[in-house]
Amino acid sequence: MSSTETNIERDLALHLVRVVEEAAVASARTMGQGDRKHSDHAAVQAMRQAFETVPIAGNIVIGEGERDEAPMLYIGERVGAPAPDGAEFPGVDIAVDPLEGTNLCATGAPNAIAVLAASEPGGLLHAPDCYMEKIVAGPACRGALDIDAPVSQNLKSIARRLDRDVKDLTVIVLDRPRHEGLIESIRREGARIRLIGDGDLSAAIAVAVRGNGVHAVMGIGGAPEGVLAAAAMRCLHGEMVARLVIDSPELEERVARMGIKNPRRIYTAGDLAMGSHIVFAACGVTDGALLRGVRFFGEGYRTHTLVMTSGSNSVRFVDTVHMHRKPGPRGVRLY
Ligand code: FBP
Repeated sequence: MSSTETNIERDLALHLVRVVEEAAVASARTMGQGDRKHSDHAAVQAMRQAFETVPIAGNIVIGEGERDEAPMLYIGERVGAPAPDGAEFPGVDIAVDPLEGTNLCATGAPNAIAVLAASEPGGLLHAPDCYMEKIVAGPACRGALDIDAPVSQNLKSIARRLDRDVKDLTVIVLDRPRHEGLIESIRREGARIRLIGDGDLSAAIAVAVRGNGVHAVMGIGGAPEGVLAAAAMRCLHGEMVARLVIDSPELEERVARMGIKNPRRIYTAGDLAMGSHIVFAACGVTDGALLRGVRFFGEGYRTHTLVMTSGSNSVRFVDTVHMHRKPGPRGVRLY
C-alpha cells in the first residue's frame, strides 16, 4: 500500500473538507429541533450540492440506501462536477454519512459529525445497510483483537498492549438492549464503560487517538459506519476487527448479490477499506471529543474538521471561519 500522500489525495482532501463542512453547517442549523429526519435531510441535501463542484467522477458506494429508497446520495449515484469537454476527472469511490448521529443532532447531544471517506475505485467495501459486530482500539493493539474470543480475553489483551490494568480501561458501548450481555461481561472484568446513545463512528475515531481517555469500542453497530470507521483506522493506524451480522435468509441473499462471498468473514480495517489511497474527512456538527460543533455568529460561522489520508502520517484539523460579508471595523469575529 502507498505510503506517501499523492497530489490528488491532497487536493481531494481539501475539496472533501468543504463537502463535510457544508453538510455539518446545514444540519447544525437544525440542532435541538427534535426532528432527526429533518436534520438528516438538511445534511444530505447540502452534501449532495457541495459535491457538484468537486472535480471527480465520484461513485457513491455507501450512502443513504438503495436508489428507490433515497432521492440523493443513494448507492450507485454519480457525483462530482461535470468534466470539461475532452477531459476526464479521476474515478473515486465514496462512502458518506452526511449526519452520523441524527438523534444526537436533533437533541443537541455531543459527537454528531458529517463524515465521508473516499478511495480509488474498488477501495471501500460495498457493505449492505445491516449491522456489524465491531471491536476497535488504538494502534498499540495491532493484532491483539479477536472477535471470537471472550470479552475478558480482549480486555486483557488491550490492557496489556496499553500497559495498564483492565480496571483502568474505558470501553465505549452503544446503549442498546442487544448489548446487555456484553455490558455485563465488561463490568464483571472491572473495566469502566461509557454508554453512548448513538455514534459508534466518532467513538471509534476517539479510541484510536491517545489522550481521549477511552480505549476500545465494542458491540454491534451499523455496517456502513463500520466501513467509515475502517477508513479512519487506515489513516490513524488504529486496530479493528468486524463481522457482518447476517440474521435472515433475505439479508444473506442481499449480501451475496452485493458480491460478498463469505458473509461470516472476519474483516480488519484493511479489508473494509482496502484502497491504497484513502481520504477521510469529518466535520463536527455538535461539540465532541475531537471536534467542536458548528458555531454561528453575526457575520458567519466557524467549523472544525478532521481530514486525513492513508498516504501521509498527518492528521489535519481545519478550523475555518466562514464569513457572509467583510468583517466590520473591529476585524474578523471568531464567535
Ligand atoms: P444515525 O446517524 O443513522 O442515526 O445512526 C447512528 C448510530 O448510532 C450509529 O453510530 C450506529 O452504528 C448505529 O446508529 C446503531 O444502530 P441502532 O441505532 O439501530 O442500534
